[in-house]
Amino acid sequence: MIAEIKNELEKIKAECINQIAQTDSSTALYNIKVQFLGKSGKLTAQLKNLRNFSDDDKKIIGQVVNQVKADLENEFSKKEKALYSIELEKKLQNEKIDITINRPGFIMGKPHPLDVLLKRINSFFVANGFIIQETREIETSFYNFDALNTPADHPAREAQDTFFLEGGAGNILLRSQTSTGQIRYMQENKPPIKLISPGRVYRADEVDATHTPCFHQLEGLVVAKGINMGHLKGTILEFMKFLFDEKTKIRFRPSFFPFTEPSVEVDASCFSCKDGNIDPACKICKGTGFLEIMGAGMVNRQVLKNVEIDPDEYSGFAFGMGLDRVMAILHGINDARVSFEGDIRFLKQF
Ligand code: PHE
Repeated sequence: MIAEIKNELEKIKAECINQIAQTDSSTALYNIKVQFLGKSGKLTAQLKNLRNFSDDDKKIIGQVVNQVKADLENEFSKKEKALYSIELEKKLQNEKIDITINRPGFIMGKPHPLDVLLKRINSFFVANGFIIQETREIETSFYNFDALNTPADHPAREAQDTFFLEGGAGNILLRSQTSTGQIRYMQENKPPIKLISPGRVYRADEVDATHTPCFHQLEGLVVAKGINMGHLKGTILEFMKFLFDEKTKIRFRPSFFPFTEPSVEVDASCFSCKDGNIDPACKICKGTGFLEIMGAGMVNRQVLKNVEIDPDEYSGFAFGMGLDRVMAILHGINDARVSFEGDIRFLKQF
């Protein structure tokens, strides 16, 4: 009797193992498990038969049944694991998305060369301990002119004629220079100050190849004890070397700005005319050997007074340049409008 049952149990086990081996899906495997080990499964049915046996026989058969059950459970879990990794692999294959696909009619965007240039310049100044200060484009006359030593009747206002907002009583305007942010910063912070302020500025100009009513400026300001023209020169020389190349030289020409005294125009030697040999046909510098890059100077004492910084204790320098112009020089672009038109044919070239 016992031998028969044992035999039966072995048969069930062999059958089950055989089915496990042949299956290749986890759903099917689960069904097999239910069929053999489930509540009304084949093995469980054998356990139910036990009640017809003597206690001693029950013990022996019980042990055999439990052993078979443990063996089968082990087989199931081995197969479950194997199927799981196969099925996962299949799923990953099927769900793979090719993000490199080049869909027809789909145009990829690109950073504008102006942004690329600005990021590069920012990195230079941040590495040299400057903070980046960005402020509002809508300003009052005070921040754009008066505080910068350009009172209402000053002729320099004309060169920076800008747009006045309706209802602003001639007092609210679009800033014509990013120097506005420097006034704001100096009102709120004590020296030492080291900042650059990049951003959009506006001037009432007609649009042509060299003028746009909106362009981008980047200004710098350093105010501390004992700042002199040497600091201005050293900073700008390093900046120009970074922007163009190591061999770059600079030259100062006397100039005028209401907010700096003395004031200079800064030219950088042409990076295209190699080794100081000026090429009379050079398209970049027009055969002059130099490129006009920026305005600069020592911060006017009056400007410091306007923001309640004592000019006897502190001094500073400032510089300002047009980013669009520098981008044009670097890439040999001869039309200022490209900064604003978003023409994809232009962007594609970079
Ligand atoms: N804000 C000046 C301009 O737009 C540039 C400048 C800045 C010149 C700082 C000198 C010093 O013309």
